[in-house]
Amino acid sequence: MGQSTPAKERLMAQQSPSQSKSNRFQSSNAEPLLQIKDLHVHYETADGAVKAVSGVNLTLYEGERLALVGESGCGKTTLALAIMRLLKPPARIVQGEIILAGRDLLKLDEEEMRLTRLQEVALVTQAAMNALNPVMRIEDQIIDGLVDHGYEETKNTFRKRIHSLLEHVGLKANVARMYPHELSGGMKQRVGMATATALQPKLIVADEPTSALDVVVQRQVMTTLGRLQKETGASVVLVGHDMGLIAQFADKVGVMYAGKLVELSPVERIVQEPLHPYSDLLLQSVPSLEAKADRLVSIPGMPPRLIDLPPGCYFAPRCPMAMPHCTQIVPELAPTRDGRYVACHLFTEPSTTAAGEVKA
Ligand SMILES: Nc1ncnc2c1ncn2[C@@H]1O[C@H](COP(=O)(O)OP(=O)(O)OP(=O)(O)O)[C@@H](O)[C@H]1O
Ligand SMILES: [Mg+2]
Repeated sequence: MGQSTPAKERLMAQQSPSQSKSNRFQSSNAEPLLQIKDLHVHYETADGAVKAVSGVNLTLYEGERLALVGESGCGKTTLALAIMRLLKPPARIVQGEIILAGRDLLKLDEEEMRLTRLQEVALVTQAAMNALNPVMRIEDQIIDGLVDHGYEETKNTFRKRIHSLLEHVGLKANVARMYPHELSGGMKQRVGMATATALQPKLIVADEPTSALDVVVQRQVMTTLGRLQKETGASVVLVGHDMGLIAQFADKVGVMYAGKLVELSPVERIVQEPLHPYSDLLLQSVPSLEAKADRLVSIPGMPPRLIDLPPGCYFAPRCPMAMPHCTQIVPELAPTRDGRYVACHLFTEPSTTAAGEVKA
């Protein structure tokens, strides 16, 4: 691990100078905005429980931008929707806590959670673009959201506020009077961001907000999201695939594999020297804007079926560095000396197993 590859060099070049100069990975003394503790989410199917999220622990500080990455099906959207409490059956939050600004969201009743959404935590998704009501003008849709949260203003005051919101996401005021079919995909996504930030939430959860857009518009939308984050001081959890965009946007990267967080690192550290073998392979395999297909490494094998998870480390069957005890002992996400977190036996010193029979 840690060797220089074309993919890594490309990603390092894509980081903005301000990111590499200022490490916004906060000290543990600051008060966390979001704490996810031992979260487990299952989809209860006829064949058994699909363990989409398996014991995720995560801390996010005010103003931080966290990107969640991992292969398709590793539980990123499930985690994002759990934070929003927008999961629908057969999904079930089996256990855990999601503490936002001191309150466990999982303990709120439906009405408290409805008010918390938009006000404290807002979601931006690719689907939000298509969720706009086709027969309502943009301004009426945003006003509806505000009224729904108890805001009462004259139409003129609302309009002024909406014009300012639209301006912040790079749209002209006349967009307020338009219908969704008059807008491009990028414009709709900006409306989604304006709506999401209308009440200045403390946390913005963005699940692949740009994946339906062409690459140029993707960059513009991400720049806008970054600007909004700076202006409002909100924290962001961004789910994404494009490591190039992520390297530019995020402070921290969380790597998910089969429902578990396997590494959590400041972006510049993980790009330079991924610790977990899965992070390393993922960084070499994710295409980005300038990627050439012949430079990409594909990760051999398939992720495990979440209905039938292997014992030990879930990545062990595919891991080039696997040791005998990896298929027996589950590695916990543990801090490294330099303040990163990794769940891998290469970085821990297991002396005993749960059963006490394996020594490494
Ligand atoms: N309604 C459902 N019923 C059963 N299993 C589901 C359901 N929705 C999702 N899953 C499973 O849960 C797992 C996690 O899915 P999730 O959508 O969270 O992954 P993801 O990381 O967001 O993937 P992608 O990168 O493709 O968006 C997958 O194995 C998926 O098949
Ligand atoms: Mg997803």
